[in-house]
This record gives sequence, structure tokens and C-alpha cells, in this order.
Amino acid sequence: QTQLISPDPEGIARISALLTAGEVVAIPTETVYGLAGDARNAVAVARIYAAKGRPSFNPLIVHLPDLETAERIAVFDAQSRALAAAFWPGALTMVLPLRPDAGIASLVTAGLGTVAIRLPAHQAARTLLRAFGGPLAAPSANPSGRISPTAAAHVADPVTGLGGRIPAVLDAGACPVGVESTIIGWVAGQPALLRPGGIAAEDIQAVLGQPLAAPVIDPDMPSAPGQLTSHYAPRASLRLNATSAAADEVLIGFGDVAGEISLSENGDPVEAASRLFDILHRADALGRPIAVAPIPETGLGAAINDRLRRAAAPR
Ligand code: TXA
Ligand code: MG
Repeated sequence: QTQLISPDPEGIARISALLTAGEVVAIPTETVYGLAGDARNAVAVARIYAAKGRPSFNPLIVHLPDLETAERIAVFDAQSRALAAAFWPGALTMVLPLRPDAGIASLVTAGLGTVAIRLPAHQAARTLLRAFGGPLAAPSANPSGRISPTAAAHVADPVTGLGGRIPAVLDAGACPVGVESTIIGWVAGQPALLRPGGIAAEDIQAVLGQPLAAPVIDPDMPSAPGQLTSHYAPRASLRLNATSAAADEVLIGFGDVAGEISLSENGDPVEAASRLFDILHRADALGRPIAVAPIPETGLGAAINDRLRRAAAPR
């Protein structure tokens, strides 16, 4: 039985105690719900992979309370410090050289010499990180390959979520950003966009004063989860760039394309990102084929289209 726990002081203490005991629990972040475990405890990290049914080559993001703890785990340079100053706490993950004495379980990094880190902005996540007093490894709290969770109910669902497989969900309502963090790494010394996400690539490029390289993607050796071809998949089929519904399709609208339900009637990509996964969960529950209106590729539109293309990919 998976319990929903409120983020009041008593709830935070209970979740923190579960984490200290090596359990895995779902926690809210500003992007999506994460399946958190103590990043120093190999057994806890193995439980994350097991609960998600995640392939072990896919390393996890380490969540930290502040820059001081981040500097003890990873090596920063001028560019990563500038990005940290501009976007942390927030929906940016950076893949940086791992300090050998960081104390992070090797299963977190899948044995790589780098570590993905992020300081979440969500109040409940920050309070929990301070109460727990350690690094939390946390992928999105969905079964591997399924739609990401942006509400506690998505996590607790026994069929499409992790209900029954984890002891608890820290329930702080809907995630305000709604898509996973943007992942930046350095490839041959050049900053590269490893996954589009909650912070627009344009804003990152503006801080760096240079374009982000788009890394070559090898679908057999994904270095970011979204790089698995079929990810974020609903059970029903999904058709992109639809301007009207065919047969019994549920049309998900955007802007001028009205649809049965809309990602954003005003055509606002930020609002659309915040609703994306909840609307996909709901549309999927109807058991009808899904069609989605075109979304412009600018700002958070890039992250939305990335998730939609993967949800539509053949599997
Ligand atoms: O918004 C988010 O980022 C959410 C919330 C919970 O924080 N987390 C999330 O984690 O999306 P996850 O596990 O689904 O995505 C992390 C991805 C990994 O799949 C991996 O491909 C990439 O980050 N990653 C992690 N460590 C890496 C590394 N050392 N090198 C390259 N990529 C890495
Ligand atoms: Mg994920």
C-alpha cells in the first residue's frame, strides 16, 4: 500500500526517516515527481532502478540543497558556475566531473566519471533535502518508459504508476513546471544540450553567450533518458501535428486548435508544459487514440515536442 503524506513538519520527518532507512519514496519537484533514494546508499539506489524497472545503463540525477554541497560532489568551472548562478535552484541539470571522494554510489552514475546534479526549487523538496541532510538520487517517479508524473495521484496509480511498489508519496499537489529539467553537459569542452526541458535552451545560450551543441544521439547507448526512442509512452496511439480529430480520436488542442481539451488556449508554451503530462495521463485513461495539435518549437515548446515525439514513436 502506497501512502500519500502531506509536506507538513511531521510528514517531512516521516519521509526523511524512510529515506534514512534506505527506502525509496516519491517526492515533488517543480518539474515532475521524483523517485528518491539516498544517493550514498547502493541498496537504496538499486531499489530505485527495481521499482521503475529501469535499464541499469541509465544514470540518475542527484538532487542537492545548495551550491556548497554541489561543489563537494562535482567539479565546477566558469561556465557551470555561471549557469548555477543564473538557474539554480531550478529546472536545470548539469553533468559535471564527479569528485572521486564524493561518496555517491557508483550505481547512481552507472560507473561514469561524471555526475548529473540539480538543486530543485520546489519548497517541499528543499525542506526535505535539508531535513534529510544528504544527496537524493531521483529519476522521474514513473515505471520506465511510461508517462512522467506531475501529480501524486499519477505516482500512486497501481496500473500506470508505482502504487503498491513504494511505501509513500510526499504529496504537494501539481508540479508547476510540468516537464523534466533541461540537461546540459560538456562534450569536448563545448556545452551541449543533452535533453530539452523546463528551462528554455535560448535562456541558457543567453547566459553562456554561445550556442549549445546538439550532441549526436545513438539510440542504443542513450546518455539521457529521453534519448530512448520510445519514452513517455501512453498506452494508446498518438498522432502529432493534428488540426482536427479523426474517427474516435481525443484531440489535445493548443492555441487556435481547440480540441477536446487544450494544453493552452492562449498558445502559451509554459502553461502547456505545466499541463502536458496530466493531460496525457487523462487522455490515455479514455482508451481512445490521441491526436495533438502542433506546438511551436520555441522556448519550452522544444521540450514539449521532444516528449510528444517520443510518446508517438513506434514501439
Ligand atoms: O526534472 C528532472 O530532471 C526529474 C526530477 C525528478 O528532478 N528527474 C529526471 O531524472 O528526469 P531522470 O532519471 O528521468 O533523467 C536523468 C537523466 C538520465 O537518464 C541520464 O540519461 C542523464 O540524466 N544523466 C544522468 N547522469 C548522467 C551522466 N553522468 N552523463 C550523462 N547523462 C546523465
Ligand atoms: Mg524519466
